[in-house]
Amino acid sequence: MAEIVVVRDQDAAGELAAGSILDLIAAKPDAVLGLATGSTPLVVYRALERGIRERGIDVSHVRGYALDEYVGLPADHPESYRAVITREVVEPLGLTPSLIHVPNGSLEGIEHAGADYEKAIAQSGGVDVQLLGIGTDGHIGFNEPGSSFASVTRVKTLTEQTRKDNARFFASEDDVPMHCITQGLSTILKARHLLLLAFGEGKAEALAGAVEGPVSASNPGSAVQLHPHVTVLVDEAAASRLRNLDYYRYAYANKPAWQTL
Ligand code: F6R
Repeated sequence: MAEIVVVRDQDAAGELAAGSILDLIAAKPDAVLGLATGSTPLVVYRALERGIRERGIDVSHVRGYALDEYVGLPADHPESYRAVITREVVEPLGLTPSLIHVPNGSLEGIEHAGADYEKAIAQSGGVDVQLLGIGTDGHIGFNEPGSSFASVTRVKTLTEQTRKDNARFFASEDDVPMHCITQGLSTILKARHLLLLAFGEGKAEALAGAVEGPVSASNPGSAVQLHPHVTVLVDEAAASRLRNLDYYRYAYANKPAWQTL
């Protein structure tokens, strides 16, 4: 079962996630991080920035692989995930740019971009910790409902719901690309630790479906139930539809001191 931790607010989630990631980097300076974009992980990146400074951790050897990228958006477009990862993660944390990878969403070579990305992740030795947000339609990465649990990095069509949700980053919904390239559910499940974060009432149903719903391709987030090491960090609003909430609180309150996230 995933460990579900209900936190006071987003900042508390950011601190917990960052603490776990920094402990990993301290023990393994060339750790491989799985990076997510969107609004949810921003608190983690800000907490990492503070933690790196305060603990004086050398992050120059840290490697990273982003979950996904829009297809057909120029890499220098401010909302391309390459640009977002550079602006929100690489620069503020002081990571080494050449060690941080984002799937190649340019149309040239898109046919083999997925396979290339899979190969690069495998050659790195695999992702140590994967940050995940969840879409209101239940997607993780951009694996929309119906995505195979065996899927690997490939091109997908975004749902209308996801394009609506992401319109806030663009001038209009029409400007949100129709296609993306995303790590598959099988790719994500290969990471050694999954850190799934969700905040706000709008995520409550998707989160409950992922954690407690039937394991189904119609509900891509439910793939996390197949992974042996998942930590879910949620605020009260996002946790509001969980049936076993009392037990999650009880288990966390009585967590053995020697256990980490
Ligand atoms: C982003 C990603 C998506 C987002 C999800 C939630 O790389 O893969 O799964 O995590 O769409 O987005 P936010 O955090 O903006 O609500």
